[in-house]
Amino acid sequence: MAVDIVILAAGKGTRMKSSQPKVLHKLAGRPLLRHVIDSARTFDDAALHVVVGHGAEMVRTAIPDNDIHWVEQTEQLGTGHAVQQVLPWLRDNAATLVLYGDVPLIRAQTLSELVALVNHNTLSLLTVRLDNPKGYGRIIRDDSGHVCGIVEEKDANELQKGIDEVNTGVMAIPPGRARQWLNSLNNNNAQGEYYLTDLIAIAHEHGITIKALQPASAMETEGVNSRLQLHALERYHQRQQAETLLAEGVTLADINRFDCRGTLRAGIDSYIDINCIFEGTVTLGREVRIGPNCLLRNVEVSDGVVIKANTVIEGPVTIAAGAEVGPFARLRPGTSLAEAARVGNFVEVKKSAVGRGSKINHLSYVGDATLGEDVNIGAGTITCNYDGANKYSTTIGDNAFVGSNSALVAPVTVGAGATIAAGSTVTRDVADGQLAVARSRQTAIKGWKRPTKNKD
Ligand code: UD1
Ligand code: CA
Repeated sequence: MAVDIVILAAGKGTRMKSSQPKVLHKLAGRPLLRHVIDSARTFDDAALHVVVGHGAEMVRTAIPDNDIHWVEQTEQLGTGHAVQQVLPWLRDNAATLVLYGDVPLIRAQTLSELVALVNHNTLSLLTVRLDNPKGYGRIIRDDSGHVCGIVEEKDANELQKGIDEVNTGVMAIPPGRARQWLNSLNNNNAQGEYYLTDLIAIAHEHGITIKALQPASAMETEGVNSRLQLHALERYHQRQQAETLLAEGVTLADINRFDCRGTLRAGIDSYIDINCIFEGTVTLGREVRIGPNCLLRNVEVSDGVVIKANTVIEGPVTIAAGAEVGPFARLRPGTSLAEAARVGNFVEVKKSAVGRGSKINHLSYVGDATLGEDVNIGAGTITCNYDGANKYSTTIGDNAFVGSNSALVAPVTVGAGATIAAGSTVTRDVADGQLAVARSRQTAIKGWKRPTKNKD
């Protein structure tokens, strides 16, 4: 069935105590609203309407998808009033699926199941049973057990407050009905709001069946009202991702000290030590080892790679099989390491290709460079790739040996098998096999006396 999706995101989120609209707060590195939109993109024939109010402009800017229809609710008069704002755009042949911008963990699968239940004579509603239902709308069932209404906490009597089945707010309204039903809402209730929840009793009175569906986990329909709740959802989500990795054959040193804020795919027998953060799209091959405290963003890591403690990788970066990186290395965008390459401690590599078996083991900056195979870059080597205005590249041939503390002033080429003497400042190309010495000669001053301390 065609679906008109309405995501409510107009609320202020007072309890977040933030200058940012609530739905832009991040879970796993992405705005709450982004999670909901991604899950909502599971239907073939769907229109996406997002109701915004507080910080509308900020929200629109943060979610630049051009297929979203933004609707402004200037005054927040209740959830029913919020959905009313979208009425002019609802299609008569489409069910209306109501979602919430601050309920981020709703799964596409659950939404599909909910929409599969809606038809011209059935409204489907997502409900959960809670040990502590306080604050939620309670599901009212008639004598035969059919859902016939929802009572908000503030309007509920003591008996109703004892009901543990609560409204999640997520519902699919039969096609062609939302307009009439929403227009008949009033605000004669404890909060003086137009309640979307009143739709259930209205539908029931019209002879519509209300089918209640439960999500696989109540966390799917948990909303975020405070930073503490956001934290709880974040940890739950991370835990889920971690468990998936374990199930797929990856070892995590500590399931509670793992954070993926993007997409991570990992081959079997890979090992991830504590406090690693994965962002963007990261793929790990088989038997990859990642030491503690590493950050990997947009990286493709092949089989058997070892990434040692405290390494920071900001991709796009590719690391071929058997390469070793770190500890304390930084790989920046546009870097590729070929098989068995080695980048050691306090080395920064930017936009460079490091050939098979080449080593940059200590304290170096290599930027805009192409290194052949089996190159050895001595400690403290710097590619001077920037003249203050433009960037230039450095090319180093196979088997070249760059002595420690050399400065390679780009643009410059060091030939295959060439040797650079330690401490050289190389400003001209070095031919294949040549030794380049570009430093002042050592002079010896005989009989030189060290200064002594002045007496005062
Ligand atoms: C609502 C439900 C309640 C349910 C609970 C689940 C109603 C009347 N009550 O209560 O039955 O158990 O959610 O969390 O629907 N919003 C707008 N515009 C408005 C009002 C709200 O966009 O004018 C948005 C809010 O930003 C929020 C969501 O709708 O994301 C829910 O609104 P809120 O006022 O928090 O409803 P609850 O009182 O939690
Ligand atoms: Ca709420």
